[in-house]
Amino acid sequence: MQSLRSLAQLSRISAAAGRIRVIVPEIPSLGPSLLPRWRAVAKHNVINRLHRHSNLHISSALRRSSETEGQTEGPLWKTPRTMPMDKYEYDLRPVFATATMAACHGGVSKKRMLTRGSCPTTDNKVVFCTGGAGSICSAQVRAMVHLGANACIIGRNVEKTENMAKDIATARKGAKVLGLGAVDVRKPEALVAAAERCAKELGSIDFVIAGAAGNFLATIDQLSPNALKSVMDIDVLGSYNTVKATLPYLVESANKYKVDGKTRPKAGTGGRIIFVSATLHYSGTPLQSHVSIAKAGVDAMSVSVAIEQGPKGITSNVIAPGPIADTEGMARLATDASRKETPRLIPSQRMGYVKEIADATIYLFSDAGNFVNGETIVVDGGQWHTQAVDKGAFKYPDFLLSGETVSGVAGMKKSKL
Ligand SMILES: NC(=O)c1ccc[n+]([C@@H]2O[C@H](COP(=O)([O-])OP(=O)(O)OC[C@H]3O[C@@H](n4cnc5c(N)ncnc54)[C@H](OP(=O)(O)O)[C@@H]3O)[C@@H](O)[C@H]2O)c1
Repeated sequence: MQSLRSLAQLSRISAAAGRIRVIVPEIPSLGPSLLPRWRAVAKHNVINRLHRHSNLHISSALRRSSETEGQTEGPLWKTPRTMPMDKYEYDLRPVFATATMAACHGGVSKKRMLTRGSCPTTDNKVVFCTGGAGSICSAQVRAMVHLGANACIIGRNVEKTENMAKDIATARKGAKVLGLGAVDVRKPEALVAAAERCAKELGSIDFVIAGAAGNFLATIDQLSPNALKSVMDIDVLGSYNTVKATLPYLVESANKYKVDGKTRPKAGTGGRIIFVSATLHYSGTPLQSHVSIAKAGVDAMSVSVAIEQGPKGITSNVIAPGPIADTEGMARLATDASRKETPRLIPSQRMGYVKEIADATIYLFSDAGNFVNGETIVVDGGQWHTQAVDKGAFKYPDFLLSGETVSGVAGMKKSKL
């Protein structure tokens, strides 16, 4: 490596016809295995020298070309970067606007766009969301609509779905939100028709949220095969039907809104799906075997979509909410006692809010979430890590906050450290 570095001093810059090139002297004796490494080290060396002594603009252009090569040639993976970052790499201010508001760049000043939080220029991005009239998913869609997207929300109950669509549309002047009721996610043909109508009326489907789910409390021995089947059908089959119905549109969107992680995508992002799952199955939850089984399937499906469709530009991720306050799910399943007790068992000492699920959604759909694929974002205040904490005598978090040391068990600390 040392001799390559000194040889690299011989390389030089050529600027002709508006193009800048690094001229690297050929060393045929290096052989085919060392030659690519030599070229990359030499180039990097020149760019470092340029950066120290010369025009920054030129050097960052060269750095970009050098790094792209490094991705395929290999040696630069091992070379720590010494250059300053491009603004795109640290300026996140426009990110959450560009997630959905491509046209804003040309239409309004950045300052106005950021302070208003919405864009007067018509934007063509469309969110397709199953369960979109529900507590959590309506908040996810509302946040996207506020930022500039249009949306189609899917549900069985016609009145509830249409009313919620009207309400979400108030998040931004001019927003188009279709409430597609009488669509059961268990019926593939109903979802195909809903996706077709959505794309036809709003122009595309760029983002999908698979959030429809059902839940109740029962032990596995009390559970009938039909009850288990019903949850599996809605959560697993419903999510699968959603993927199948929307994938062609998502692939089209991913093709249209390509991202490379190095340059700000002028027209924003597209071709992304989020599955709304849960954390129940991480350490096991009594009375919730049916949902645990179903959500584990949903998590696995998301990874499969990421692996198989990622090369087409799709990202597929899971958001796993913890207990979220003021939701239909909590209202239906929590007793007064558990509602009171639950916050104590959460490291953040409170339940979550629908806003916090919406925040994670915007992140994953935005340019900030480009390289997150096949992942689960748990939004639960750390709750699932403490699902087993109250099994013993050391009450959480009172015991930790008391400063007492453990006593009354054989495995306690014997002396001060
Ligand atoms: N709430 C929580 O604290 C919590 C915690 C962890 C995970 N989650 C997950 O977050 C998501 C939303 O929960 P939420 O509490 O907001 O529930 P929610 O308000 O009950 O929303 C669920 C929505 O799904 C729709 N839906 C149910 N079955 C359907 C079907 N067969 N076809 C079409 N749509 C269907 C319902 O609309 P229709 O009745 O009109 O069909 C409803 O609007 C779920 O995936 C849930 O498992 C929630």
